[in-house]
Amino acid sequence: MAVIEVALAGREYEVVIAEGLLARLAEAAAPFLASYRGGRAVPFVADTNTHRLYAAGVDASLAAHGMNAEWFVVTPGEDAKTWRVLEHLTDWLLAAGVTRKDHVFALGGGVVGDLVGFACAVTKRGCGFVQIPTTLLAQVDSSVGGKTAINTAAGKNLIGAFHQPSLVLIDPLVLDTLPPREMRAGYAEVLKYGLLGNAAFFDWLEANGEKVLAREPAALEHAIATSIAMKAQIVAEDERETEDRRALLNLGHTFGHALEAETGFSDRLLHGEGVAMGMVLAARYSARRGEVSADDAARAAQAIAAAGLPAHLPALDLTCDGARLVEHMRHDKKAEATTLPFLLLNGIGAAYMARDVDLTDIAAFLDEELAA
Ligand SMILES: NC(=O)c1ccc[n+]([C@@H]2O[C@H](COP(=O)([O-])OP(=O)(O)OC[C@H]3O[C@@H](n4cnc5c(N)ncnc54)[C@H](O)[C@@H]3O)[C@@H](O)[C@H]2O)c1
Ligand SMILES: [Zn+2]
Repeated sequence: MAVIEVALAGREYEVVIAEGLLARLAEAAAPFLASYRGGRAVPFVADTNTHRLYAAGVDASLAAHGMNAEWFVVTPGEDAKTWRVLEHLTDWLLAAGVTRKDHVFALGGGVVGDLVGFACAVTKRGCGFVQIPTTLLAQVDSSVGGKTAINTAAGKNLIGAFHQPSLVLIDPLVLDTLPPREMRAGYAEVLKYGLLGNAAFFDWLEANGEKVLAREPAALEHAIATSIAMKAQIVAEDERETEDRRALLNLGHTFGHALEAETGFSDRLLHGEGVAMGMVLAARYSARRGEVSADDAARAAQAIAAAGLPAHLPALDLTCDGARLVEHMRHDKKAEATTLPFLLLNGIGAAYMARDVDLTDIAAFLDEELAA
């Protein structure tokens, strides 16, 4: 078991990581269930998968403490992050009489967490919520830090708010049912923490990554706790990404988003897979600039490939050129500019924000990579 504090003055909260936490939910979340003791049902949001797999356990834990849950269940996938679903969810919360003192419980991956977080940011101008992340991606990244959002026609996550949860409960046991591909995609974000700021953790992942992916309890808990401790530290230092500090968490994401956009944000390339390929590209571009050794760039690529994640650009079977990928990046950042800030590497565990990166050069680099 590990408890990590997110130290935001006045809004500090705990991230608890322990096997079997879900079965002990009523105890683990007791302070945040107190407002329902009078008899009102506790509002829980899940998607059909997490509801099917884990709602019964939650219901049993609450029942043992004289409480009951009422469930709002969404269809799995990004389509749940829309105005339409948000409207239904907020109507449902208001009909249930939710107050600013209440907490809404999000049981699911990043989609459920982002949707519930945003709904709670705007319901009664801000009610509480508890994150119970059930994917590796959500357990190491999206459930902590308070970024919440829905998608619109203009793009992903463009409508949202900063709204911190009151508690995050991470039960690694729920990952036993996660499809292997989703597990690997989440693991890309774990490798990200090592690459961006913790060389010792990266070394450890090189040696133990296989155990993490195989969901061996001790290795898994260490990987989650180390990732979350880094995220908590970075969020406490730069909650709203006003300095470059929190931006470091986007290592690999500028390249990755371009690849996701080019593949239509579809099952062809999951977010974590795009980030994995993006980190390889960031490492290789850094090597091309002479800022990281060819050996370290190769190590980064090797760790990603060893996890079964994409590490070789031609394998994605794209039909576009580098200039088109750069167009996606420009669109992403709403920049007409000829340069963009890019997260690059000075070494394993040493990411930094480069401000002078010329997009023509990025396009040329991507053409080389596409032909490699
Ligand atoms: N707020 C942030 O800081 C932040 C950070 C990164 C990503 N995100 C967002 O997170 C979302 C992606 O999250 P995700 O990767 O968790 O995807 P997801 O929530 O869509 O979950 C992936 C799939 O796994 C299923 N699933 C979830 N838990 C399961 C379990 N324990 N067993 C079996 N199946 C399970 C889901 O039903 C879904 O089909 C994106 O919308 C992204 O924008 C947000
Ligand atoms: Zn990400």
